[in-house]
Amino acid sequence: MLEVRHVSKTFDIGTVNETPVLKDVSFTLNDGDFVTVIGGNGAGKSTILNMIAGVYPIDSGEILLDGEDLTNKKEHERAKYIGRVFQDPMKGTAADMEIQENLAMANRRGKKRSLAWGITANEKAVFKEELSMLGLGLEKRMADKVGLLSGGQRQALTLLMASLQKPKLLLLDEHTAALDPKTAKKVLDITKEIIEKDHLTALMVTHNMKDAIQIGNRLIMMYEGKILFDIQGEEKKSLTVDDLLHKFEEASGDEFTNDNVLTKR
Ligand SMILES: Nc1ncnc2c1ncn2[C@@H]1O[C@H](COP(=O)(O)OP(=O)(O)OP(=O)(O)O)[C@@H](O)[C@H]1O
Ligand SMILES: [Mg+2]
Repeated sequence: MLEVRHVSKTFDIGTVNETPVLKDVSFTLNDGDFVTVIGGNGAGKSTILNMIAGVYPIDSGEILLDGEDLTNKKEHERAKYIGRVFQDPMKGTAADMEIQENLAMANRRGKKRSLAWGITANEKAVFKEELSMLGLGLEKRMADKVGLLSGGQRQALTLLMASLQKPKLLLLDEHTAALDPKTAKKVLDITKEIIEKDHLTALMVTHNMKDAIQIGNRLIMMYEGKILFDIQGEEKKSLTVDDLLHKFEEASGDEFTNDNVLTKR
């Protein structure tokens, strides 16, 4: 499904700030893989997601999705196949537009712009059904401005928008980190539901080791711009937080400190 081949990235080449952020990163996602990505601050997690989404060009390597070479494709071209949800609830939606208008925009992403503005009855019916599955009562508020929603409601809506067109790949970057624990859990449950229902292939960055272990079928640990290890199958199922800490120290030769900012909760 997704092939990341020997991808390297250095920001600010030739300046004092020159930092190699990704060092020859390679991995392949199979159809339906739900991968949690964990690693300390600055490990390169967001950068790898940005490279896949085409936010910045890569220095070397290749990125293929479903056999198609995306390496030189622009961000908006990739957006047809790739859904994204960021950490900041304010980012994924337009606050001064209605819930249904936001959904209509997401629904028309990548399609011809010849569609006259206006939401069809058919679209409304689909949006209503999809919204009611979130269990947040948003289906009764379709004409409300998104700016009126809470952070958790906005993240749930962003998730729905990102998955509305059944993306080939869903990228989630700490999308529950800005929410209170109860809301974060709710949004995480919705995430699992959507991914399962639509059999999506997904990469989810998290700082929570427990979530990283419990969710998905595969776990990737990043460290200093490289993949430290990649665990799947039975090994992933029986993994504990202690195993993860042990593996981290063994593979990195580094002590696990608070600087790594991974919560064990
Ligand atoms: N646009 C950019 N310009 C310059 N440096 C950048 C840019 N984006 C990221 N970096 C640098 O790349 C490194 C990796 O950043 P990245 O955001 O990928 O880390 P991360 O693993 O997502 O960390 P966190 O857990 O803090 O989100 C950091 O040193 C960061 O400062
Ligand atoms: Mg990040």
